[in-house]
Amino acid sequence: MHVPDLKYFCQSKRDNKKPMPFSHLKPKVQTILSNENEPAGQRLKEVCELLQSSVGYYDWVGFYFANEPEQTLHLKAFAGEPTDHTVIPFGKGICGQVAVSNKNFVVPDVKAQNNYIACSITVKAEIVIPLFKNGKNIGQIDIDSHMEDPFSEEDERFLEWVNEEVSQIL
Ligand code: SME
Repeated sequence: MHVPDLKYFCQSKRDNKKPMPFSHLKPKVQTILSNENEPAGQRLKEVCELLQSSVGYYDWVGFYFANEPEQTLHLKAFAGEPTDHTVIPFGKGICGQVAVSNKNFVVPDVKAQNNYIACSITVKAEIVIPLFKNGKNIGQIDIDSHMEDPFSEEDERFLEWVNEEVSQIL
């Protein structure tokens, strides 16, 4: 059977003729996360690489986790260009705001945000989804896009699902 290239199939949410690949990605995410031969950090890195390489508008994908005593977020795994922002104080930037709000934060245009930490001038949009373990916000998945306004509710539901799966191996 011919398997279409997923990156091609997901260039834009507006391209309604082409199916989103999230249903194809879910079993791959589960396979990566269930590999107990790898440490959890390596599995998270592989999830980042899968998402970044499969979804056309996911240009940088990372997981930050909270250090509650220090009130900081720490980058634990990512795919895409290395970032200087490996530690982010609670409240700072989109990530730091999600650490405090416990809510999804979808940014269609990063230029419109005052409290935003720029990682690269090529980034146009960002989505940050909190990751809960036993009801507590312990981290987040952060995705940067070079495309303007690329994220839809489908992305939010998919990334919430990814975070639920990740929380089970932590
Ligand atoms: N833009 C983020 C900082 C992290 S980078 O996107 C990797 C923010 O404003 O919190």
